[in-house]
Amino acid sequence: MLNDLGQADVAFSYAPGKIILVGEHAVVYGAKAIAMPIDCGVRVAVMPLPRNKVESRGPMVRGLGPFFMGDTYVDADSSGPQVLKSALLYILEVFGDAAKELAIVVDGSLPPGRGLGSSAALSVALIKGIYRYLSRPLEREVLEKHAMALETIFHGRPSGIDHAVVMGGRVIAFKKREEGADIWPIALKNSLTFVLAIAGPHDGTKNAVKELGMRKRRQEKVYERIFLGLNEIANEMEQALIEGQKASVGELMNIAQGYLNALALSTPEIEKLCAIARDRGALGAKLTGAGGGGAVIALADGNDLELFNAFKAAGYQSLIAKVPPVADMCGE
Ligand code: PMV
Repeated sequence: MLNDLGQADVAFSYAPGKIILVGEHAVVYGAKAIAMPIDCGVRVAVMPLPRNKVESRGPMVRGLGPFFMGDTYVDADSSGPQVLKSALLYILEVFGDAAKELAIVVDGSLPPGRGLGSSAALSVALIKGIYRYLSRPLEREVLEKHAMALETIFHGRPSGIDHAVVMGGRVIAFKKREEGADIWPIALKNSLTFVLAIAGPHDGTKNAVKELGMRKRRQEKVYERIFLGLNEIANEMEQALIEGQKASVGELMNIAQGYLNALALSTPEIEKLCAIARDRGALGAKLTGAGGGGAVIALADGNDLELFNAFKAAGYQSLIAKVPPVADMCGE
């Protein structure tokens, strides 16, 4: 259906969430990291604001699903989630008048603040949805620029890995440079199945990155060595993924978790979840994302249901995420 201006009345977009297999935090300081999209994400629908709302409160974002609940406007008494309000303010700044009469519905199956890329997925899906609604072509560089700007609002000093993997919808290696980053796809030999357990909220990626920066300043040389170690794990991991050496991928995940613990990013709960996974035959387990809470990922070896049930039995929310060999998980 077309509106008065000949534009589509509703535009839909989708972006997947992600997991980081190795290199979180170290990536901020130039180490190589590997990330994968997962088959849960954020869906956005963009449509005209109902006529009776146009004059009263301006554009709105309605969050649906368990994670983004609430109606958000830019005015002071809007009660919706802060993340949606920040996004809305950015959209108004970028699109000006064209954004004033928009109603945006966001539906997310990804728990936010758990290191699963919900904010990057939201950023990418929002921008794609609005461009599509306005029938404007969207170049990759422009999407990248907006996603980075939104992620900077949400996270402070992002390396860019989250939205790079979310935008590409495939497994990537990522290495930050002074300007931009080197990003290349990795073709997996086999599909991989991860079982995720949610260890609870963390204190926000922004804080985690800032606090690690402070610890690093106190132990500069030691931290640099650990980042080199994580970079080495990423090199070995890339090879193991290409060759389909699942056991090696798992073993490298376990070593990475040891380093992350040394960087004070783990918690007793994360260690407990890693132990549950390894006891039940996971090939490897580690935290993913900012740490200090968030999610644990366990690499399954045909035992995904057993791992899922073990996490549930221990009282944790769990989900199973599959990564196909040549993933294109943008969902469009
Ligand atoms: O947004 P999260 O929690 O997945 O963390 C992203 C990874 C970090 O390395 C901690 C931060 C970054 O920007 O790379």
